[in-house]
Amino acid sequence: MGTEALKKDFPIFKVKINNHPLIYLDNAATTQKPKKVLQAISNFYSYSNANVHRGVHTLSEEASEMYDEARRKIARFINASHESEVIFTSGATDSLNFVASTWARNNLKPGDVILVTDAEHHSNLVPWQIVAQQTGAELDFVEVGETQEITLNNFKNKISEKVKLAAFFHCSNVLGAMLPVREISKLVKNNGGIVVVDGAQAVPHVPVNVQNLDCDFYAFSGHKMLGPMGTGVLWMKRDLLDKVEPYRYGGGMIDLVEMKHSTWADPPEKFEAGTPNVAGIFGLGAAVDYLTEIGMENIMKHEREVINYAASELSKFERVKILGPKDVNERYGMITFYTEGAHAHDVATVLNSYGVAVRSGHHCTMPLHKKYDIPASLRASFYIYNNKDDVDVLTGALKKAFEILG
Ligand SMILES: Cc1ncc(COP(=O)(O)O)c(C=O)c1O
Repeated sequence: MGTEALKKDFPIFKVKINNHPLIYLDNAATTQKPKKVLQAISNFYSYSNANVHRGVHTLSEEASEMYDEARRKIARFINASHESEVIFTSGATDSLNFVASTWARNNLKPGDVILVTDAEHHSNLVPWQIVAQQTGAELDFVEVGETQEITLNNFKNKISEKVKLAAFFHCSNVLGAMLPVREISKLVKNNGGIVVVDGAQAVPHVPVNVQNLDCDFYAFSGHKMLGPMGTGVLWMKRDLLDKVEPYRYGGGMIDLVEMKHSTWADPPEKFEAGTPNVAGIFGLGAAVDYLTEIGMENIMKHEREVINYAASELSKFERVKILGPKDVNERYGMITFYTEGAHAHDVATVLNSYGVAVRSGHHCTMPLHKKYDIPASLRASFYIYNNKDDVDVLTGALKKAFEILG
């Protein structure tokens, strides 16, 4: 993949950071936006701005058509069986809260178990803590093993008929490990449970086929896949669309309203109360076009090369301890590590002085960091525009950091 040519599509790479070219390695937090996405947002507000599904005037019809077309594009991108399975939210966090506030709160009771892993992003942990408190269900954990991997066997030991909901990441935002979603889903469902997958770190990096994964809910964010912030998706399996109650109530989601009673529109409108982020969703549609043009298989292949190179270069430093599966081929999107004798924030500050943007901290996984007894780690996360030269700048700056910090 010609990453230098790709970088030209992203205006941000013209920006200098401390007089250095920007080496952006914080893609797991959010990705940069190509001109096509920026133009889509600007074009919407410049030439098509109107509210959707509300008017018969030309602009409103146009905006509605653009919004619906973006939904169809995203449905195709994740191979949904029907576009009505794609519900727009403000991001993965919102999508996960959606399931917690609707299906989970309405169906769980004392004696039931909610199963998550101990490596979840807080967005896929805290909502379940609250549901457990509200319903009396118990929250239980599949633990990351000594090898810093979670296997199907880890799940097998925990799944029983009591597990009514299992919620787990597709790709971990710290370990970079992928879970065998299809196999876990089968186990949970054979025991009568519902499966919620946090796909925030998977959809940007690998081809995702929700029908093949065979889960019930799949959540992801638009801004981690070149799209705008404030956009996200909850994919909900078709046979649940009529069973799940609305998440929010108000305009846009109703069929008939009387003074004391209302009925709901058909899905997906039933789940999208209020004015949606039309420009954002239009931008997300443009991001999906951009990714589709490159091809998710090509993206995966490209990232594999960069990650393998980064892992090999980083492991040359004695003080660098890499988290996650030992087999680098089991690692997607990122390399998270800690540095012996130097705090992650101090290292990240020195890296920034060379134009290198990495994440330092707990990456919204405090329990996992506590388990490993490290206050913070560094995460270099890659995307389509990163290349081996970026890795060389990172490791060069890391060397300087160790010299400066001692
Ligand atoms: C695995 C995972 N889940 C959920 C989220 C939350 O995404 P958002 O902040 O876009 O809602 C993130 C964000 O970093 C994540 O990495």
